[in-house]
Amino acid sequence: MARMTTTPGLTVRGATAGDLDAIARVAEAAGQRGEWTGADPAYVGHLLRYGQIAVAIDDDEIVGFGATREIAGRAGVTSMLCDLFVDPAHHGRGCGRALLTQLWPEQTTARMTFSSQHPHALPLYTSVGLDAWWPLLYLTGDPRTVRPPAGWTVELSSADAVGAFEVGWTGLDRTADHHAWTRRPNGLALVAALDGQPRAAGAAAGEGAGFGLVHLASDPRLTDAQAADAVLAALTALDGVEGHAQVCLPAPHPAVRPLLAAGWRTADMDVFMATRVDLLHARRAVPSPALA
Ligand SMILES: CC(C)(COP(=O)(O)OP(=O)(O)OC[C@H]1O[C@@H](n2cnc3c(N)ncnc32)[C@H](O)[C@@H]1OP(=O)(O)O)[C@@H](O)C(=O)NCCC(=O)NCCS
Repeated sequence: MARMTTTPGLTVRGATAGDLDAIARVAEAAGQRGEWTGADPAYVGHLLRYGQIAVAIDDDEIVGFGATREIAGRAGVTSMLCDLFVDPAHHGRGCGRALLTQLWPEQTTARMTFSSQHPHALPLYTSVGLDAWWPLLYLTGDPRTVRPPAGWTVELSSADAVGAFEVGWTGLDRTADHHAWTRRPNGLALVAALDGQPRAAGAAAGEGAGFGLVHLASDPRLTDAQAADAVLAALTALDGVEGHAQVCLPAPHPAVRPLLAAGWRTADMDVFMATRVDLLHARRAVPSPALA
């Protein structure tokens, strides 16, 4: 049967706080449940405040939503597509494309996302100028299996301190996101030091199986081996919370090999898609799938 590519009467508009319940219904219909998903008012509220959210309306009903967040740094502004979800009953009728057109009206800015493996996602992002570069692995394991790397210590810190380290190392001001991450269940800010010198800083958060290292920035002078150790050190500091943790790493990140060797497993994977490969560093980034 020929597929309908556009839905007559489909409209897209910016979201407001009054749309939170409808956005949660779409997220849940698309299989997104629980903390720090489209079904969580804290997450959607953060995007409403610091990003842009669009909703697709068909027959007076919200049937899809998408969100972007701008990340500003010395090299300019990158727009991150954080979410794009359409109610499965409406898939393949142009909702995803209509939402993306509203969120990214021009195709000149630097843009990136972590694409799911849904068959509509990669072709859609490719058609608007993004290329698929590397897998983002969702690694899960027991932090107690991670060997504490020699010379590294990890201290609890604050969102402001971590944000300041990140600005100094990368030029990216992610302080508002660090505040949001540390306010999540089990949220904490941490700084990892090598021989007493702070070299990596980030956030951990989440409930149950979703708990883990959310984002870790590091000193660009770290070697590959040190970048791996920074991740391992941060993970060893998470052992008391749930006996289980998650971290999302680019497949080429130097911490992937030691974690797999320690018995960690890839629970899922997304694909990093971007207008330029250098929008994230495949051997250094420890990004959150939603906010990078
Ligand atoms: C991915 C998603 C947002 C796309 O939205 P959608 O409304 O289904 O997609 P659209 O109808 O706008 O189509 C977008 C592209 O998908 C592909 N596509 C759509 N229907 C298709 C079909 N039946 N068969 C093959 N490809 C199809 C086409 O490339 C299409 O582009 P085109 O319209 O120029 O041909 C939606 O399917 C979804 O919510 N999926 C589950 C959640 C998810 O994985 N989201 C992505 C997070 S990164």
